[in-house]
Amino acid sequence: MPMWEGRFSKQIDKRTNDFNSSIRFDHVMYKEDIKGSIAHAKMLSKQGIILKEDEEKIIKGLNSILKDIENHVLEFDPNAEDIHMFIEAELTKRIGQSGKKLHTARSRNDQVALDIRMYLKNQILIIKQNLIDFIITLLNKAKENTETIMPGYTHMQRAQPITFAHHLMAYVEMFKRDLERLSETYGRTDICPIGSCALAGTTYNLDRLFEAKELGFSKITNNSLDGVSDRDFIIELLSDISIIMMHLSRLSEEIILWSSWEFKFIELDDSFSTGSSIMPQKKNPDITELIRGKTGRVYGSLISLLTVMKGTPLAYNKDMQEDKESIFDAVNTVNLCLTTINPMVATMKVLKENMKKAAEKGFINATDCADYLVEKGIPFRDAYKIVGNIVKYCIENDKTLESLDLSIYKHFIPSFDNDIYSHINLINCVNKRNVIGGPAKEQVEKQIMSNLAKLT
Ligand code: ARG
Repeated sequence: MPMWEGRFSKQIDKRTNDFNSSIRFDHVMYKEDIKGSIAHAKMLSKQGIILKEDEEKIIKGLNSILKDIENHVLEFDPNAEDIHMFIEAELTKRIGQSGKKLHTARSRNDQVALDIRMYLKNQILIIKQNLIDFIITLLNKAKENTETIMPGYTHMQRAQPITFAHHLMAYVEMFKRDLERLSETYGRTDICPIGSCALAGTTYNLDRLFEAKELGFSKITNNSLDGVSDRDFIIELLSDISIIMMHLSRLSEEIILWSSWEFKFIELDDSFSTGSSIMPQKKNPDITELIRGKTGRVYGSLISLLTVMKGTPLAYNKDMQEDKESIFDAVNTVNLCLTTINPMVATMKVLKENMKKAAEKGFINATDCADYLVEKGIPFRDAYKIVGNIVKYCIENDKTLESLDLSIYKHFIPSFDNDIYSHINLINCVNKRNVIGGPAKEQVEKQIMSNLAKLT
């Protein structure tokens, strides 16, 4: 019989019960639910709302339930309405009358809002740690590649010379912003709603601050309606996770390209790639493709909850139960992706020679060639045009800027001299880009070291 049987004269239809029940997914919050109830019992007894002996029985009972769940002695009842009802019913089964006092001055509406905040606070810390671990892997890979010349691209066309370290460090910046976003979301999740009760607070003399402090919250909510119906922090977290997935997906896309025969910039370790069931030569970057695919699924969760929330009047509505599968799935997905891509990137082989060859072929030092003429007093627009003509000549005659004879350079404009060759040497081109944020070894090394110092 459900907890709310008093008002009803008929048993609940099995289909209604199954449809309504959330225990198959909200059981993951059992620890938070028990912890929340222990704090509630303490507060109720401190305020003289329940007896000390009831408090003690409740705490003992809840701890025994916790232990039995963890030891798989107690199974979640699939017919229970949700984890909150399940634990309360089990408590009353174990300790009798005192168990029935626990839900004084509390509603499942503030209870579920509390549990999900506690659960997500912990999950945010886990995602942050996984992100930090991955950033450290990227930094270590970057450290080994501050001299690994590769073409930088725009429009997927070879554009200017950079290093592989510089390229990886762009992702470090993205993931650092992701960390910041998670910290901000943590702050808005770390607000305790308990005491809002069903929607309008309560007539009991509660000590909300005490209960919040017991549970490790830094603040309490200011409005009881908002306390039970705010899901912004979940939407925010879904958005943070979507952005992390977008970053992981961009990197995955690059890794997929880089491991193709067309690029061959990297080779994935055998233990992090898969074969084909028919083509014996294949080595596929499945992990990265799955990350790209799973990004769509996480975006789906974000859009789903935004849509769920857009039409719900204040305060609690059952629609909000739909928040859980979305956020739980997104959290699991991002953690899975981060912990899988990390060793894959750590073990991938960087094919430096191939990167260099690609860099030599794309006229990526053409801008430097034009800058050379500017140094000789030619206006940039003219220099740009002259070098454009030289590149055209090179393409037609299968030459590179490095291999073109000085006599031919001079034919285009006599300002060219022998020092053009060192000016367009790719390593020099990179190291001359010594502006803060640029690809020069000195700059990138500084960035790597300061990030490593902060994160390790
Ligand atoms: N299982 C519900 C949820 O996840 C708990 C709150 C239910 N409250 C209620 N009054 N029906 O949202």
